[in-house]
Amino acid sequence: AKVRHFKWEVEYMYGAPDCQEHVVMGINGQFPGPTIRAKAGDTIVVDLTNKLHTEGVVIHWHGIRQLGTPWADGTASISQCAINPGETFEYRFKVDRPGTYFYHGHYGMQRSAGLYGSLIVDMADGEKEPFHYDAEFNLLLSDWWHKSVHEQEVGLSSNPFRWIGEPQSLLINGRGQYNCSLAAKFSNSSISQCKFEGNEKCAPQVLKVRPNKTYRLRIASTTALASLNLAIEGHKMVVVEADGNHVQPFAVNDLDIYSGESYSVLLKTDQNPYKNYWVSIGVRGRDPKTNQALTLLSYSATPASKLPTTQPPVTPRWDDYNHSKAFTKSIYALMGSPQPPKTYDRRIILLNTQNRLNGFVKWAINNVSLVLPSTPYLGSIKFGLNNAFDQKTPPDNYDSSYDIMKPAPNQNTTQGSGVYTITLNTTVDVILQNANALAKDVSEIHPWHLHGHDFWVLGYGEGKFKNGDEKTFNLKNPPLRNTAVIFPFGWTALRFVADNPGVWAFHCHIEPHLHMGMGVIFAQDAHRVGQIPKEALACGLTGNKQN
Ligand code: C2O
Ligand code: CU
Repeated sequence: AKVRHFKWEVEYMYGAPDCQEHVVMGINGQFPGPTIRAKAGDTIVVDLTNKLHTEGVVIHWHGIRQLGTPWADGTASISQCAINPGETFEYRFKVDRPGTYFYHGHYGMQRSAGLYGSLIVDMADGEKEPFHYDAEFNLLLSDWWHKSVHEQEVGLSSNPFRWIGEPQSLLINGRGQYNCSLAAKFSNSSISQCKFEGNEKCAPQVLKVRPNKTYRLRIASTTALASLNLAIEGHKMVVVEADGNHVQPFAVNDLDIYSGESYSVLLKTDQNPYKNYWVSIGVRGRDPKTNQALTLLSYSATPASKLPTTQPPVTPRWDDYNHSKAFTKSIYALMGSPQPPKTYDRRIILLNTQNRLNGFVKWAINNVSLVLPSTPYLGSIKFGLNNAFDQKTPPDNYDSSYDIMKPAPNQNTTQGSGVYTITLNTTVDVILQNANALAKDVSEIHPWHLHGHDFWVLGYGEGKFKNGDEKTFNLKNPPLRNTAVIFPFGWTALRFVADNPGVWAFHCHIEPHLHMGMGVIFAQDAHRVGQIPKEALACGLTGNKQN
């Protein structure tokens, strides 16, 4: 195993992710940030220098469990203090498991501003994936707004509320086309045909393939808002990995991917090699006002400039939730994967609601909308600083008379920074309960992401979770993941073993939702965590403590 060193500088810079010039967050002058490629067992060391002039920064390594290094999780106010302008912070952690991951900013809404990149961990030397492929591509998916992230944040926290709206563009590896389309003649708007020389930074990255080979596509979504569907014209995909865990292979024509998720699919190039094929990405779960992102699967015998004469794959209707559920429910762990404990020690039921607080729009969990404290929990819990955050524990359940099918009779929520204290080495079940939002007959998709652990997804259900529903749980081969979606008006059941001392966020991965309070904090024996670098705690009430 190797130690891999990186020296990164985060800054605002000009870019044109969708061919229109805007300010974007970059690392070492690149957007998206550099790809980290490592082998399982390696240690990653990133010296991150904050070159922003007036704001802090942190980077979260999404999907890396940070076993034994909770202070390197990169969550502002939770695992560390934001790195101040001009300062450097050293992230040092082990990538213990192969898989497709990514990293992103976890302070304010810096992910929306473009602070993200790929993190790919290959099998350790001498080990093999349980499937074969000849070559691979990496597709990091995101969404992009022309409004600055500061304007977005202010709008979301204003009264009256100003929604950020739908993204202007979808990006594949940081590239999209706002003012033109590769398939203009198939579009019903008057958008013009894109013409590229090939070296424009917003030109699509063409997937150049040879016939009769197997390709692995690594696909990860770091969107701020959009749920996506990916399809490749004329080609089936076989899903083999989800969030760094092997799954029982299954074939699909298209795949839904929510923010925070990653997949690997295998693709056989067994079609007519004298043609090119569309790769399309479209919006799901919200009435889309954003054009599909397009690129090409281009066979070696065919120049990439030869566009298909056919229509790009049509994204399933945005509210065709049966299609989404069918895909999500066909994901099972590969045989031989770790199985969940058969019973749980504690069950936490989390009701997801949209609320108001003095007229401001919020999201709340069991009627608490999360606000982060100025002193990171990891330090305040370690040092027993009881006035650093709300000492009141948020509830493990909600009022059983609450009707999840209707807007709340009392829309008001409370706000808090309390934590769920989880006992080390216990098994925790979390039931995520969706509900009606503020508007009548509206319930949205929320992809929930857990830091520091994977969980087993035991099952999904419609309506309110009730006693007896646990009989439907899959305890045999549930998939292990770090992100799971709740469907409108439904519930999702998760199980995890609390085996990683630290303080961990568990939240909706839709960035504006988290910004509006949609998350909880799990604290696990944080008073026992040793060796926290003092730079991680050099703020708030821990500012003058020594480790
Ligand atoms: Cu990828 Cu807490 O997020
Ligand atoms: Cu959400």
